[in-house]
Amino acid sequence: MPIQAVVFDAYGTLFNVHSAVDAVADNLGDKKQTVSNYWRDKQLQYTWLRSLMGDYVDFWQVTRDALSFAFDQCELHNEELKEQLMNAYLHLKTYEEVPSILSTLKATNIKTAILSNGSPMMLAAATKSASIDDKLDAVLSVDSLQLYKPDQRVYALATQQFSCEAQDICFVSSNAWDVAGAAHFGFQVAWVNRFSQAAERLSVPPRWQLKDLIELPDLLS
Ligand code: LAC
Repeated sequence: MPIQAVVFDAYGTLFNVHSAVDAVADNLGDKKQTVSNYWRDKQLQYTWLRSLMGDYVDFWQVTRDALSFAFDQCELHNEELKEQLMNAYLHLKTYEEVPSILSTLKATNIKTAILSNGSPMMLAAATKSASIDDKLDAVLSVDSLQLYKPDQRVYALATQQFSCEAQDICFVSSNAWDVAGAAHFGFQVAWVNRFSQAAERLSVPPRWQLKDLIELPDLLS
């Protein structure tokens, strides 16, 4: 059965989350990478913890809370800089190959979508800013469920969107824990392992492992 839709994770897969700190690199100095790493790590932890606690706030708030933690941890006290970083998160850079790969897929019969923890506002801003909004058939946010990945109900948003079975969808993520959640749901999963990370010992392994998105159209043809 051929793949009917390719569904992408957003942050870390299409968008380089570490490009936000580049926008204010001079102000962060040698704390730039540490801030960025704490920010991303806490952002993800807060999604898992809030889902477990049944205490949902949207990803914009989670991202702000994680940035506040990162600033405290790095002893930075600059509210204006924090606002600049939040704004930069709405204008993240995509990885280089993303626009052309989305265009290639769009020229086939395969549908394309994002399925992300991001709030609808964040995803609309980032896809527009990167000029990829017109290359996607759907942008799906967990916000409609008030739950975060890897809750299996989140992945079902994609099968509902395309009225198909899980195995008809190729799910693409750079986040290994998201890969495990998506493979457990039954998607055919491509792990974009951009930074040669070790495989997670979780659930079902991905069907494919890629260095970037360049090989993706050939895998699906
Ligand atoms: C997302 C997070 C996991 O886009 O990066 O859903």
